[in-house]
Amino acid sequence: MITEYIEQNKDRFLNELFDLLRIPSISADKNYADDVIKAANFIKEKLIAAGADKVEICETAGYPIVYGEKIIDINLPTVLVYGHYDVQPAVPLELWDTPPFEPTIRNTEVHSTGAIFARGSCDDKGQMYMHIKAFEYMMETNTLPCNIKFMIEGEEEVGSSNLGPFCINNKEKLKADVVLISDTSMIALDTPSIDTGLRGLSYVEVEVTGPNRDLHSGVYGGAVANPINILAKMIASMHDENNHITIPGFYDAVIELNEKERADLNLAPFDIKAYKKDLDISDVWGENGYTVYEKTGVRPTLDCNGIWGGYIGEGAKTVLPSKAYAKISMRLVPNQVSDEITNLFKNHFESIAPAGVKVIVKPHHGGEPVVTPTNSIAYLAASKAMETTFGKKPIPTRGGGSIPIVALFEKELGLKSVLMGFGLDSDALHSPNEHYGIQNYFKGIETIPYFHKYFAEMNH
Ligand code: BES
Ligand code: MN
Ligand code: MN
Repeated sequence: MITEYIEQNKDRFLNELFDLLRIPSISADKNYADDVIKAANFIKEKLIAAGADKVEICETAGYPIVYGEKIIDINLPTVLVYGHYDVQPAVPLELWDTPPFEPTIRNTEVHSTGAIFARGSCDDKGQMYMHIKAFEYMMETNTLPCNIKFMIEGEEEVGSSNLGPFCINNKEKLKADVVLISDTSMIALDTPSIDTGLRGLSYVEVEVTGPNRDLHSGVYGGAVANPINILAKMIASMHDENNHITIPGFYDAVIELNEKERADLNLAPFDIKAYKKDLDISDVWGENGYTVYEKTGVRPTLDCNGIWGGYIGEGAKTVLPSKAYAKISMRLVPNQVSDEITNLFKNHFESIAPAGVKVIVKPHHGGEPVVTPTNSIAYLAASKAMETTFGKKPIPTRGGGSIPIVALFEKELGLKSVLMGFGLDSDALHSPNEHYGIQNYFKGIETIPYFHKYFAEMNH
């Protein structure tokens, strides 16, 4: 029994994850390049130890992809497990209660039986590692019911730009029936859910230039455009009074849900009071006429992620700055196309710039939205697996985040994905004090073997 196996090995399962969490594999920061490689090697060793064959570190133009497989019978179905060993930067460090790469266990209001605090604990080391431990169990007990392939990458948090080419060049190696991913959230431990879609992303950086140099704000102020004032106004103008995005054509491709689909989406329980309390906000915000689930699941957004310019040192400096900058992201929903939205943004941003400033729009990485089927064998297997271990049928929901490679799996490999995540939205992914419930970790390890079992059975 998997529950017994977990009970017997729980300390080791935690210690191994802790070892992985101690490696600061921050893909965005070149100073951590050696650690990212170290994390790849760690995964390689653990896949070998668990019983995988052909385990290899596949070099790319960026960080490597760790591959491993166990083919027990070519006539059986094959599950391709995807996850990532890289993590987001941990800054600002002073906002962490304990150091991000020294994992510790603490209770929280939501995780009353303990959560692991560390960068990457939930996203995605903790969730990815569950698959390796579940695989270990199936190998150890000779119960692996299908073929399994692992593809664990190190560049998810920076846009997965080398994974697309890797898939295109390794179609035979990656041949499978479905992709299984645990890198999303569920509603709560007592309310399991499965994401059936992810938003896409268009990310740009803008630069607004006023005068050719920083000026005395008294001598010139009032007569020369201040790029910070202008940029703030331009960004603010991109939402109207209903918090609708004002970029012409922005919503043209958006698929509106019909009444039935909207009702289904809102069937999932939502505790607005807990939501507001967790974030310490007095009210939610957003596009008029939509619920929170709709706003984060099926509606596109535009958010400023960072804004800077001028004097931010101590005290006051009276300066009219030459330049102002911002990073802006747009979350996309079906059928918006990342490059098209980036172009619409660029044209609009340039068109609303007043005389007296110059603007530059620099596109960053993007990704396409996806919707995954709820009537596939793989979805039904995931649903049944969660129902077995949680005692409740999981609710289909839409994830607000993005995993751009999921759309590529479909396009390049012809594979659909199942997003069987075990994290919680409140686990502070990308934030200070990221954590992952110990129960969530063990529940994941418990559930995964059932997925493989049911998937193999239903394929017969
Ligand atoms: N695991 C997240 C995505 C996620 C989290 C989806 C929670 C659904 C629920 C992933 O690691 C991530 O952070 N993706 C980035 C996109 C990437 C291009 C940097 C994101 O969503 O910002
Ligand atoms: Mn992730
Ligand atoms: Mn992430």
